[in-house]
Amino acid sequence: MSAKPEDFFKNIISHCKEYGFIFQSSEIYDGLSAVYDYGQNGAELKKNIREYWWKAMVQMNENIVGIDSSIFMHPTVWKASGHVDAFNDPLIDNKDSKKRYRADVLIEDHIAKIEDKITKEVEKAKKRFENFDEAMFRSTNARIIEYQTKINDINTRFKAALNDNNLADVKQIIVDCEIVCSISGTRNWTDVRQFNLMFSTSIGSVDGEGSTIYLRPETAQGIFVNYLNVQKTGRMKIPFGIAQTGKAFRNEIVARQFIFRMREFEQMEMQFFVKPGTEMHWYEHWKTARLKWHHSFGLGETNYKFHDHIKLAHYANAAADIEFQFPFGYKELEGIHSRTDFDLKQHEQFSGKKLQYFDTESNSSYVPYVVETSVGLDRLFLATLSAAYKEETLENGETRVVLNLPPALSPIKVAVFPLVKKDGLPEFAEKIMESLKYDHIVTYDEKDTVGKRYRRQDAIGTPYCITVDHQSLEDNMVTVRERDSMKQERIAISAIPQYMNERVGLTSLLKKL
Ligand code: GAP
Repeated sequence: MSAKPEDFFKNIISHCKEYGFIFQSSEIYDGLSAVYDYGQNGAELKKNIREYWWKAMVQMNENIVGIDSSIFMHPTVWKASGHVDAFNDPLIDNKDSKKRYRADVLIEDHIAKIEDKITKEVEKAKKRFENFDEAMFRSTNARIIEYQTKINDINTRFKAALNDNNLADVKQIIVDCEIVCSISGTRNWTDVRQFNLMFSTSIGSVDGEGSTIYLRPETAQGIFVNYLNVQKTGRMKIPFGIAQTGKAFRNEIVARQFIFRMREFEQMEMQFFVKPGTEMHWYEHWKTARLKWHHSFGLGETNYKFHDHIKLAHYANAAADIEFQFPFGYKELEGIHSRTDFDLKQHEQFSGKKLQYFDTESNSSYVPYVVETSVGLDRLFLATLSAAYKEETLENGETRVVLNLPPALSPIKVAVFPLVKKDGLPEFAEKIMESLKYDHIVTYDEKDTVGKRYRRQDAIGTPYCITVDHQSLEDNMVTVRERDSMKQERIAISAIPQYMNERVGLTSLLKKL
């Protein structure tokens, strides 16, 4: 019963609401655009992913420590970091539909469409491989070369326009590529303008210029301004990292694709401080380590790829994204940036305080270089949930929706069912709940048939269901049913805690790293 690709993403969004994963924020007031709330199951899944990241970064690496800095920071932080002047997106409006677009996204989507045409040509050629003659080969080849040349031309112009901040040229590319508005179907575009993405508010009781502060657009700056505090108090030796997770806020021009692009979201970032000149080694190291971490989710290694940035951010000398195949195509999941000494030097300059490291080996001080890993928790949640979501037809013709989540990340780890609501079975089930609840989130269900109860747990990704029956009262054994294989086995109740610890603890994931 697999859904058509266009319906698949809609089904995931409905599933998130129906099973308490994600709700639109302020829904009873018709919602707030691009802001979402996590429900009872979503909050657990999100917490588990965050915890897995924290353990993989902080607990597993002796030279990485974690902090929790505040959302509000001194406004000069954002002047120093470049966000006040340069944290902009180029926007363009269609005059007929009044719809607003990010100009760079319009161009990137156009390139993606040409790339699709190349893929289709290759697929067609593969299908006709047997009776593919020279003439066909030539014409297919010519079309592919034509498409690739177009892509190269657009990329070259686009890169130059962005680097020169030439917004007129960005608009000209949109005009030359004959890009139309998806609503009005016209090419009646305004000029391209820059739009700063930071939210501002005022602090204290006085409203005015001096009291303007920003909601942080990235958590990274909280790490930079605490670099020296942590280095000194933790007696950290380079290379070392500082990690943190927390909310970030961006006034996104086009917020779309559910929780993929939100105005309030959570980041999990790590800044790795290194000796100048060694940053490319550590950049490659963290690219490899982070991809391995993503692969450990078991969601399919072919779903991930690297994408090197065309335009480097104002602070980077190398940058790549780990992209994930979301239901709407490959998109950025995590960014890995070699940020040079830009941030620390800027903060030195704006604060007048030295932010250096004394290297005892060379007996000299320097401003460390930084390699950053930055992943959006909400985006990772969406990647995990959409890859885990399966609509299956079983051998007996029944259908089920199942979330094949990594067991260690599932919101509920174990569901306990008494076969019937009498004869002491509920009390027996309660005892099993009691033995597990100190280590795991456990749920109890006695309503409907066991089959229906299994379906409810499959839909939220509970990896194990335990059923207590009359025989259990005599032999102290229960039936454990595994979510993905649906296989059942009888185990002694005394063995349950260890059985579960081995299968649903984060250790099982951490050992893959
Ligand atoms: N400190 C570097 C930084 O913030 P970024 O590429 O702008 O870099 C890092 O953001 C990650 O944060 C992205 O890879 C993405 O996963 C997540 N992210 C960024 N903007 C987001 C948004 N509006 N909604 C959800 N996640 C977002």
